[in-house]
Amino acid sequence: MIRAIDEKTITDAALEQMEGTANPRLKQIMEVLVKHLHAFAREADLTPEEWIEGIKFLTAVGHKCTAYRQEFILLSDTLGLSSLINTLHDKRTGQTGTKTSLLGPFYRQDSPVMKLGDTIATKPTNGMEVVLYGQVKDSEGKGVAGASIEIWQPDETGNYDLQKHDPSEMDLRGHFHADADGRFYMRTVAPLGYMIPMDGPVGDMIRAQRRHGYRPAHIHFVVGAPGYREVVTAVYLGNDDHIDSDTVFGVTDSLVTQVDMNDPASPMPGIPSIKFDFHLAAATARDMTGRVGADPSQITSAGA
Ligand SMILES: [Fe+2]
Repeated sequence: MIRAIDEKTITDAALEQMEGTANPRLKQIMEVLVKHLHAFAREADLTPEEWIEGIKFLTAVGHKCTAYRQEFILLSDTLGLSSLINTLHDKRTGQTGTKTSLLGPFYRQDSPVMKLGDTIATKPTNGMEVVLYGQVKDSEGKGVAGASIEIWQPDETGNYDLQKHDPSEMDLRGHFHADADGRFYMRTVAPLGYMIPMDGPVGDMIRAQRRHGYRPAHIHFVVGAPGYREVVTAVYLGNDDHIDSDTVFGVTDSLVTQVDMNDPASPMPGIPSIKFDFHLAAATARDMTGRVGADPSQITSAGA
């Protein structure tokens, strides 16, 4: 029988054609996606002109992606989707660890391996030197020996190495390992908050919505150890003007910290310091990683 397609029956028709999907999780995700996508079009009463505007926008987002830039991740971030995926991820853990924050579009794998106390600022800088220190702990507060700590951040002008003249040159990134007690310390420069990349379609969207486009100053981390759930997070500097209006919704209260100009407990007294302890939950089979994002070069097979 030929079905009468109208604005309601079209959803069932689409779901029916997808019923044979072999992978049950893919089947579930696509069913929910189609249901909500159709509901979105119905609720917005989307016109053909608006539909093609949406197609043009997503096409432009794709064209903006290179091995060094991921406009789709930026779109996900600015819509609050990445942050939502992170909170769902955190809910799935058995033990409570440090909260997840955005991986963002500037993560790169293979950052240089460094020794405790090294500085990740490898280029000339006018930034304020700071020492970052703390301890990686398990759920009982015991140090996690040799925990892996990847760190990356923008410089004192708010720019990442990927946004500079030669994006293949790394700076302000490093891969450290904690000591036998889980303790770590490294030097860097205090980062400045920054505007997300505004020269693409996501920037056009942000301007159309009259949003400021800023992220408060922060330092990114991926922390993990065998047997523990990897945590992708960032620490935020509490004195930033945009601490309560992050464009990508990465800030949460427990990740806010500050520069201490005179901390007697610092492993390098005399240098301003930031102290932050990380808590790792035991790994469960389902979610060894919580990376909402990836090195852009791993997503863009065509490169740039
Ligand atoms: Fe960032």
